[in-house]
Amino acid sequence: MTENKTYRITLRPTHAELRAAAGTPLRDVLFEQGVEFPCGGQGRCRGCRVRVMEGTAGINPAQRERLSSEEIEAGWRLACQCTVESDLVIELLQWDAAILVDDTVFAFQPRSGLGVAVDLGTTTLVAQLLDLSTGRVLAVRTALNGQARFGADVMSRIQFGVADGGQRQLTEMIRRQIGGLIEQLLFAASLTCAEIADIVLVGNTVMHHLFCGFDVAPLSHYPFESERTGLARLGARELGWKFAGDPPVRFLPCLGGFVGSDVLAGIMATKLAESQNVQGLVDLGTNGEIVIGNRERMLCASTAAGPAFEGARISMGMRAATGAISEVTAEEGKLHCHVVGNAAPRGLCGSGLVDAVATGLELEVIQPSGRLAGGDAQWMLAPPVALTQSDVRELQLAKAAIAAGLRILLERWGNPELHRLYLAGAFGNYINRASARRIGLIDFPSEKVEAAGNTALLGAKLALFSLDGEDGSFQEVRRRIEHVSLNEDARFQDVFVEELTFPQSVHARD
Ligand code: FES
Repeated sequence: MTENKTYRITLRPTHAELRAAAGTPLRDVLFEQGVEFPCGGQGRCRGCRVRVMEGTAGINPAQRERLSSEEIEAGWRLACQCTVESDLVIELLQWDAAILVDDTVFAFQPRSGLGVAVDLGTTTLVAQLLDLSTGRVLAVRTALNGQARFGADVMSRIQFGVADGGQRQLTEMIRRQIGGLIEQLLFAASLTCAEIADIVLVGNTVMHHLFCGFDVAPLSHYPFESERTGLARLGARELGWKFAGDPPVRFLPCLGGFVGSDVLAGIMATKLAESQNVQGLVDLGTNGEIVIGNRERMLCASTAAGPAFEGARISMGMRAATGAISEVTAEEGKLHCHVVGNAAPRGLCGSGLVDAVATGLELEVIQPSGRLAGGDAQWMLAPPVALTQSDVRELQLAKAAIAAGLRILLERWGNPELHRLYLAGAFGNYINRASARRIGLIDFPSEKVEAAGNTALLGAKLALFSLDGEDGSFQEVRRRIEHVSLNEDARFQDVFVEELTFPQSVHARD
């Protein structure tokens, strides 16, 4: 019977060998391997294109609409539209997308043994294996968070979690995936049987709860607060991990609301808590997180930016992988698009989206209200990639959420002069600061804005060397941070609406 038949699937260039039952959606198989489905598998974006090198994968009307006959002939398919019907050898187009790791040199108190630091993001996972006596990174592994198939942002992850059996499924999935990553780290360093002394994870509050197995229901409704935000201590064995010596696992504490230990780690990594001058830290993810402060006082907040910065919910959005337009500029009215991997353009990633809108504002193709001039439905960037009216609206929502959050925190602090604004995370690393300013996302002079890299991972590594309860430790710094719930701020909604509009032109703030 065909239902019981399984087929072998070989992936290029990873050479992963998988087995899947006949009829399994190819999407389910590939998602585990880190392939993304930007339009949610609806066959609209072409972002999930794969090339079938051997075997057969059927063609349906959605694929005929999105793929040229030459592409179909050459074996290209939309993975979201195919099922497993034979043994397959598949080439993954997305594989070379970059996930930001960290190689910062930092001061530390040596200790013996091996340590693992994990940045558990809503979209991506990064794990590093360290020799704790030298601080040397022995191996790095990255992956896309397998939970993302159940929703791109934290709210949709929560919604899935509160449904019947959803939470257990998400918890088991992420524990299994991270356990697998750690196994890969040990394997890569030829230390398969070695004992690990310490494992530290950081992530936002939802990732913290899902990993630790804490109920996410309190995060699903007003006031979006949970009681279980403290430092979580677990054992490898209770997580289902079989590592020598049953190493301790610490998930660092959250700061309140959706602001998690990734931000606490970022504060430690940027030394914001020791600074005399007021500084800011912004993580431009689906869950935008913001900190303003210095050694006297720190305020933090989270704001629902949505996944536009990661290229999701954008008609031709994709991650910064091969074929993504990552930069858009104009010279004498002529558009220039930089495409990742110097390939043919196939989509638009977050930094390209911000650039495109900034350039569109300069060229007056986009009005400050966000309307495409002349009421056009789209603006062609580099065929076939176009920016649509709804893409601009998605970016406006994301931009307004961050800009309003920043404004409210600065006002609460007493409108201090901000000496530096760190942008954390991959998007913060690649975004063009002038474009971010042009659209009013980060309304500060470029020289004050600094890409800080993967501060969450760096902070997790610092925590491997930091003892709880010490002065300047994570726990001590956490006690000094005040969480501001933007939902409860009477002005947030008004400021958000004001920030939906793009600036007429770049203006100096100070
Ligand atoms: S995810 Fe397959 S076409 Fe968009």
